[in-house]
Amino acid sequence: MTKPEKELSEKVQAVGPSATMAITNRARELRAKGESVISFGAGEPDFPTPPHIVEAAAKACSDISTHKYSPAAGLPELRAAVAEKTKRDSGLEVAPEQVVITCGGKHAVYNSFQLLVNPGDEVIIVAPYWTTYPEAVILAGGVPKIVYRKPENDFLVTVEELEAIRSEKTVALVFVSPCNPTGVVYPKEAMVAIGQWAAKHGIWVITDEIYEHIIYEGSEHHSLPVVAPEVFERCIVVNGVAKTYAMTGWRIGWLISSPEVAKAASIIQSHQTSNISNVSQVAALAAVSGPLDAAVEMREAFARRRLKMHEMLNQIEGVSAAKPQGAFYCFASFEERLKSPVGGKMLSGSAELSEVVIDEAKVALVPGEAFGASGYCRLSFALGDDDLVEGITRLGNFLND
Ligand SMILES: Cc1ncc(COP(=O)(O)O)c(C=O)c1O
Repeated sequence: MTKPEKELSEKVQAVGPSATMAITNRARELRAKGESVISFGAGEPDFPTPPHIVEAAAKACSDISTHKYSPAAGLPELRAAVAEKTKRDSGLEVAPEQVVITCGGKHAVYNSFQLLVNPGDEVIIVAPYWTTYPEAVILAGGVPKIVYRKPENDFLVTVEELEAIRSEKTVALVFVSPCNPTGVVYPKEAMVAIGQWAAKHGIWVITDEIYEHIIYEGSEHHSLPVVAPEVFERCIVVNGVAKTYAMTGWRIGWLISSPEVAKAASIIQSHQTSNISNVSQVAALAAVSGPLDAAVEMREAFARRRLKMHEMLNQIEGVSAAKPQGAFYCFASFEERLKSPVGGKMLSGSAELSEVVIDEAKVALVPGEAFGASGYCRLSFALGDDDLVEGITRLGNFLND
């Protein structure tokens, strides 16, 4: 008799668990045992959702219309508000019918591949990448083709590198700026070149703009279909309320594309999810149609912590990190430090390093392997200032021992 897990589909067996969630869970377990763990694993703002958004949701709970099924593509008023917000924030003009509300940006990413990928089709992903992209491609039957980027090139991909990996089977490119985990923000000219390259070869671009408002001085966010309009014919914009409004748990994102793609996406969703939670959609409506004040306040806190973390990390021998231009992560190289023993042992990469560091120093780091970059770890600065200093101090003391 074969074991039941052998009977699971090949697709499922090909994907791994989310490493970012795994490290957060490990930190939670240790805390439950009474350990004082400092976690740099968070992929979410450490702020509450602004009160006006929570109040709108509370009110919606007693409105009977939220108790019933609603359209699979999203509440019409939210689709209209997202279209309006997109014009306000990135200058992209779309009709409400081109917006489909999803269960978070993650669902929009997942459905993008379901919409575009046939078995064996290739999707180009630039490493270090957000851990979900390759797995979502595999779940759609596609093949992720990874372009490995280096810090000496500012982690930016060039058209030459994309061209080198393009094949007859390439159907799509995943583009993200600001980038998780590197914090890189693409300059406009680089985006124009990438957009033109994709349009020339009929390649779809899934452009992930979830960190659009979390950007620091000296950098500017651009939306790919705005700076390279030729790309829009084959483009899906992914976005959501999670990071901008501290709403990760509400699970509201969206995708924007042509009316045909949006229609197809809503058909998929009608079988997959029916509608997205109505109460969460009302909360998202209050978010996107309201002010950005809370987002600005959060960004100020992130900006301060970013400088502190960047400075402290670079003071640890064998550790180096570029200053992030967007999002809330430092992506630090431990490659030099891994050339000598850590805690008396030679380690094979950052996966082992993060295990030793959480067990010995009680500090949670997300290993670079989760993002296709061994030797690196991602450290989120979405945590309190004191914890940040304490955590990096512990890490430094442990590594210097
Ligand atoms: C680059 C990127 N895209 C999309 C998402 C998905 O966000 P959510 O599903 O919470 O809206 C995340 C979350 O970590 C992310 O980092």
